[in-house]
Formats: sequence, structure tokens, C-alpha cells
Amino acid sequence: MALLPSLLVNFTLPVLTALQRSPLAGFLRESVFDYYAGYLHPQLTLKRVFARVLAKRQQGKNTLAITLAPSAHWLGARAGQHLPLSVEINGVRHTRYYSPCAAAGRAGELEIAVKCSEGGLVSNWLHDQLKVGDYLEIGQSAGDFGLPKPTSKLLLLAAGSGITPILAMLRSLQLDNPGCEVVLLYYGRQRNDMAYLIELKDLFSRMPRWRLQVGLTAGSATDNAFSGRFCTAHLASLAMLQNLRAWQAIACGSYGFTNTVRQVLTDAGGVAGLQMEAFTPPVFAATADQPVTLHYARAQQSLVGDGAHTLLAQAEAHGLEPASGCRMGICNTCTCKKVAGVVRDLQTGLLSAEPNESIRLCITAPVGDVTLDL
Ligand code: FES
Repeated sequence: MALLPSLLVNFTLPVLTALQRSPLAGFLRESVFDYYAGYLHPQLTLKRVFARVLAKRQQGKNTLAITLAPSAHWLGARAGQHLPLSVEINGVRHTRYYSPCAAAGRAGELEIAVKCSEGGLVSNWLHDQLKVGDYLEIGQSAGDFGLPKPTSKLLLLAAGSGITPILAMLRSLQLDNPGCEVVLLYYGRQRNDMAYLIELKDLFSRMPRWRLQVGLTAGSATDNAFSGRFCTAHLASLAMLQNLRAWQAIACGSYGFTNTVRQVLTDAGGVAGLQMEAFTPPVFAATADQPVTLHYARAQQSLVGDGAHTLLAQAEAHGLEPASGCRMGICNTCTCKKVAGVVRDLQTGLLSAEPNESIRLCITAPVGDVTLDL
């Protein structure tokens, strides 16, 4: 039980932030302060952000929407960004990354959607164990995925949990750019699997220039839904997309889905701009297994690797411990300087030979010998 009221804590946190910029900061040890202040209130910390669970509600068959009230240390999120959320399960801390379902100001409430999956340790714990009134540790939001500016025609493509950042973008557009023409293609296995479908229908019914098209990848398609996965025929059947090059496109879903989106849009002549985010790790072509040499500059080691695994997986297999988080190109935790060599971005398929460039190790594979600042 908290000994201090939340209101008082939220007034106190900015004072603590200011204190850390003063000469008194040298006397404060964060771990000690957080330990003792935690007895007064779980959100009373020097820097770490704890959010109170305000509500849990089911969204679709397998998705749980969690409403959180972060402490005043939180700096807010733009639509499309993600944030880390950490829980302790059986004494072990686990961190996962989630996209808020709406842009949120620093004092605002925050909603994330968690899909229950077989073997998903954290997602299942959140579904089954988390209670209203609990506190969860979150981090500051980050990421460049988001709405292009300016935009007047926007094609949004989402599959499964990929709807979460797309929903945040729609809510932002509704407030900031309601005149924008929007087409959303939203894919799920069956209607009752699809999170936020009722909210989306309601939102689109109020926006005359917006069009929602559902795609069902399992079972029979009814009520004008597309049947099967996203494909050229689905795109071609949307009359308003005939001048596709005038549209900006944003896609979010599994790696396979975003890959298909890129291919279909390219085959159709391309779009004005394409942003994609995949929430599953990249899949490799089975042919990229020729040996390469990986030079780890700081470790002063040169070891044999291949083009069939990410640089992150290979560095770990070689005994190094590069920082990592989401392992799917979202959080930027694994960003590292590539000193020399050619690499392939597994999300975009693009090759890069630029020396001294920053790469994300978890979505990058070597295409020849590579030197890393590790
Ligand atoms: S670990 Fe998150 S981007 Fe690589």
C-alpha cells in the first residue's frame, strides 16, 4: 500500500528531476533512493517510470488492452512509437516492447494491447496475473515509425497486432489532419480475432474520406471482407488507389506481411513513400550461408561467420555481449557502428557499404567480411 497520495508524488517528481541537475546530485544514489522511496509510493523514483494499471479489457479473442497511468517522469509518446515494459516473473526481469494505441502526452493515460500467444511468457503473465492497481515499469518511448508530414493520401496496412500503432496514427490523424484521405487494409484470421475492430468501424463511420477494408486469412470471408492474405488482387480492387504513386503507405505486421506489402506495392508501380515495421524477427534466405570473417574491433577478434544469421546472433555466438532488446529492429538498443564491410538490412532488403555507419545488429546480416565496433 502506498503511504503517499499519487497526486503528491506527481508534484514531487519534477522537483527530483531538477535536483539531479543541481550540485546536490552527487549525494544521490539512484538505487538507494529508489529502494527507500519505494516504501512511500511505487512511483516515487529518481528517474525510472512506473505506471499504475487503471483497467484491463478484452479486445478481440486473444488481445488484452491495458490502460496505464505513468508517473510524471514519463515524457509521452508520438503515434507509432514504442516503449519497453518490464515485469518480474519468478524473480527474473523480462522486458518487451509495445506500441501505445494512441499518442499520449506526458501527463496522459496510456493504452497498450498485448496479444496472448502460446509460450508467450510475458504476454501470458500480463493476461493472467496482472491486476488493476498493480504498478508496471515502463521506459521512455522511442522510434521513428510514424505519420509522414505533410500527407493528404494515406494507405495503411495492418495485420494482427500491427493494428496497434496504426490505430494510434488514425487517432492522431482524426485530431490533427481529418481532411486526409485514408484507406486502411486490416487483416486477421477471423473477425473475432481482430482487436479494435468495433472501435475502428465506429471511427471510420465518422470520417467520410476514410475507407476501412477488412481481410480474413482463415475461414470464409463475409460482409465484403477480402479473403486470404494481402495480394495484388486486393490492392487492384480498391478503385480509389488507382493512382497509387500519389499515396503514402505505412504497413505494420509480421515480417512475412511487411515483405509481401513491399513486393506488391513495388509490382504495382510503387507509392510516394513507404514505412514499415515488423513485429516478428526477420526470416533468412537459406542460401546465404557462405563463410565470412567478422572482425570485432574492440574485442580484437576475427572469427568466421556467415550471411545466414544476424550480426547480433553471431556476435552472441562468438561470446560477445552486445546490448539488445526487442531483437526485431524496433527499439534501437542494439545499434552499433559498422566500421567497414557490406551488410544487408533484412527488413528492407537493401545493401549498404557505407563505412562508419550505425546499424541495428538484430536485423542486419553480413554480405561479406565486416568490421564492427564491438
Ligand atoms: S534489439 Fe531492438 S532494434 Fe535490435
